[in-house]
Amino acid sequence: IYPQELNLNNKNYSTDSWTNVNENILSRIGLNLHQQKNHPLYHLTNRLRKYFYQFYDQKKLSPKFSIIDNLSPIVTTEQNFDSICIPINHVSRTKSMNYYINQNTLLRAHTSAHQVDLIRSGLNAFLCIGDVYRRDDIDPTHYPVFHQCEGVQLFTKEELFIGNKNVLGDKDNLEIFGPNEQRDATKQEGHTLEAVKLVEASLKKTITDLFKTLLPNTSILNSRWVDTTFPFTHPSWEYEIEIDGKWYELLGCGIMEHRVLENSGLNKDHIGWAFGLGLERIAMIMYGIPDIRLFWTNDSGFLSQFVFDDSTHSIQYKPISIYPQCINDLSMWMGKTKIDPSDFYDLVRAIGGDLIEQVILIDEFYNPKNQRYSQTYRIIYRSMDRTLTKNEINMIHKDIEYHCKQQFGVEIR
Ligand code: PHE
Repeated sequence: IYPQELNLNNKNYSTDSWTNVNENILSRIGLNLHQQKNHPLYHLTNRLRKYFYQFYDQKKLSPKFSIIDNLSPIVTTEQNFDSICIPINHVSRTKSMNYYINQNTLLRAHTSAHQVDLIRSGLNAFLCIGDVYRRDDIDPTHYPVFHQCEGVQLFTKEELFIGNKNVLGDKDNLEIFGPNEQRDATKQEGHTLEAVKLVEASLKKTITDLFKTLLPNTSILNSRWVDTTFPFTHPSWEYEIEIDGKWYELLGCGIMEHRVLENSGLNKDHIGWAFGLGLERIAMIMYGIPDIRLFWTNDSGFLSQFVFDDSTHSIQYKPISIYPQCINDLSMWMGKTKIDPSDFYDLVRAIGGDLIEQVILIDEFYNPKNQRYSQTYRIIYRSMDRTLTKNEINMIHKDIEYHCKQQFGVEIR
């Protein structure tokens, strides 16, 4: 059923017995919802940016964290699995969990796929934001494409211990690595406990403060750290918050496996934390969005609720009707003075009542030749409780045109 080659982002990929992507999934590549102005994921991305830009590097005279949000989701199995020490037989590699383009290429299942490349490129603190793809259940909170934000911060001995002098007193023999350190539940082989504890404290403070900023109303409720395991961190935790008696997992995180740093070209001079959080989950809590499919809708009844310039603006989403929208434009010539849009809105409301969901002035210009203004309005009709017929809407639309002529003396184009 697959052609021999798939052309994606102007590159050809040969297909094989691993290929299991489909049109629906491939059509999401490049949509980058998190970069679409006024999308809820765009606002959340801006808030993450704002939070992490507050940390300043006095030596480099620049923000500590670099933010990378435009890497292609097409990655190699080396990037998605091997580079971060996911064992060769791990279940997370299976065809039934991932969208493969071919045996060696897939749509990234997590933003952790870029950890090693970004560290290799010289970064020691960064966020990596992007779309990720997983074959998963279908329900109101799961969708095969969603968005993640990866966070990584590395520390040298100097950064870790000098920055924490007050905590540790004046000892100057502190080290990240020790010759006889064993791996146990609290740390990896090679790591000293004091280094691990400082990195853990930095990670947990960064994350709890982040969620206090993102969810100020929920921060008073309970939150907890749950021990877990990931192949690329040890020790590892999940961060959960409680809302209305239910616990929600917001992210996974931990102390980076030293082998991941070695894969990135670093020697025994750094230790770091990493986390990966799902944007949709957080946006759903933040804005009260009930269904994950809504992030993909073009329905202006949804999108228009997120039109604001200040991304820290806090709103609660109001559910839209389940009945379809019907869109009709109205263009008119007027004289030297143009119609005040609010007058037009009042007229439309007066005639269409609650069947009017939205009215937008989509075009306006002045024709100097005949000294007339032109305006085009888009009227979006939708009932809260039934599907409107074309005929019914045409009658209302004609009625609006008629009253415009009467009230404003315009000519319908
Ligand atoms: N990549 C993990 C996931 O998608 C999350 C994670 C990132 C966990 C970084 C630990 C460290 O589930």
